[in-house]
Amino acid sequence: MKLDVVILAAGKGSRMNSSLPKVLHRIGGLSMLEHVIAAAQKLDSSRLHIVVGYGGDEIKQYLAASEDAPNLNWASQEPQLGTGHAVQQALPGLDLGSEDNLVLVLYGDVPLIKTSTLQKLLLQTNADTLSLLTVKTENPSGMGRIIRDGADAITAIVEERDASTEQKQIKEINSGIMAIPALKLARWLSELKNNNAQAEYHLTDIVALAAKEKCEINAQLIEDEFETQGVNDKSQLASLERHYQMGKVETLLQAGVAVRDPARVDIRGVLETGKDVEIDVNVIFDGEVTLADNVAIGANTSIKDAAIGEGSKILPGTIIEGAVIGKNTTIGPYARIRPGTILKDNVKIGNFVETKNAIIGKGSKASHLAYIGDAELGENVNIGAGVIVCNYDGVNKHRTRVGNNVFVGSNSVLVAPIELADNAFIAAGSTINVDVPVGDLAVARSKQRNVSGWKRPGKK
Ligand code: UD1
Ligand code: CA
Repeated sequence: MKLDVVILAAGKGSRMNSSLPKVLHRIGGLSMLEHVIAAAQKLDSSRLHIVVGYGGDEIKQYLAASEDAPNLNWASQEPQLGTGHAVQQALPGLDLGSEDNLVLVLYGDVPLIKTSTLQKLLLQTNADTLSLLTVKTENPSGMGRIIRDGADAITAIVEERDASTEQKQIKEINSGIMAIPALKLARWLSELKNNNAQAEYHLTDIVALAAKEKCEINAQLIEDEFETQGVNDKSQLASLERHYQMGKVETLLQAGVAVRDPARVDIRGVLETGKDVEIDVNVIFDGEVTLADNVAIGANTSIKDAAIGEGSKILPGTIIEGAVIGKNTTIGPYARIRPGTILKDNVKIGNFVETKNAIIGKGSKASHLAYIGDAELGENVNIGAGVIVCNYDGVNKHRTRVGNNVFVGSNSVLVAPIELADNAFIAAGSTINVDVPVGDLAVARSKQRNVSGWKRPGKK
């Protein structure tokens, strides 16, 4: 058996009120289409086909950067004449070589479908059986209704706009997702007519064709309705986002993470956590983040692509991106740790400190108001309040090297390239543009002059 998965993504999604193609809108930091692709990729021996129309080039470009790109086959549907017509566009790429081959139809705007559900559906499907994923709902409005005969066998799907008042009462609806024997699908698609209310070629009409030739039709009822919920507007997108986030938080809670408020944390990527981790409110995790044992993340923080070592505390209002943080380090409140930062163990970064492309050695401190960029600091360095590394001369960036046990007095300026050797001591308010040897005191500021008997200017 060979499996071809066809993902429909040609629709415009007008109700999103956005210039971005619908399937590129994100849930948990990943486009809806990527969610569907990920679920399909996990099926054994599947080949993926994506049917695009509206915004097709943008969608292809967007996915070209993903690691799935080489495995994607593209079909284009222009104009969009219905879901049956859409599958038809993918037909030339499907494997019709054997009776046993199957086709699974998915939707780019139904993002939370699970691989396990699809696996179950496929298990029920073979050369003589078509399977539908159906939902029982109190609010079937807008959906295709599953029509059954007296013996409870499925005979057709009727779209809302073509349904009689009586049919509209039916609570079992078509999720849209189906698994179909490939050769039969090809034949049924060629028999589709568009004599319906929308004048479209409905994929759902293959069900009546299958019934007519006594092909078995299975319905698999879905338990978690969110799996088959489609997104047509921002409200539905937001609702699925919350559901998705709640699922992620639940996993964290089960793993023992103390999440202060499950509704106020967002995980847009992969978060790995150790033991006794605490996460306060309004925290956003992005990309790949690892929190080791006993890490505490304070309120209103944003952490992207970072590893945080055992026992470290991230205090409120801090933003971290592209950094590796050692053990028992504290950062914040209100610090900004930018890409390329490596903080070793027992480092302290205080409020309004910014670091970028900087390695800061064990036990070093920058407690207040500083900028450390393109720099390498040794162990037990003290960076005073208001210290700035001038890494940029207006054209090029230069590096700063600071040895162990160096003390940089408040409000000093280190003009790179510059090297402060071990035990150097920089007097407060100095502008340092000459290297400082081991143990030297460097004073680089104008001498104070006190003018006695001086009078303040009076008001005119
Ligand atoms: C479809 C089903 C309906 C089901 C519902 C579930 C049909 C005819 N109806 O209705 O039974 O209850 O989904 O949500 O299949 N698409 C294309 N090309 C097209 C038309 C649609 O790629 O020409 C794509 C859309 O981008 C979308 C999906 O197919 O992802 C479904 O299309 P949509 O128009 O939303 O179908 P519904 O009317 O919701
Ligand atoms: Ca829809």
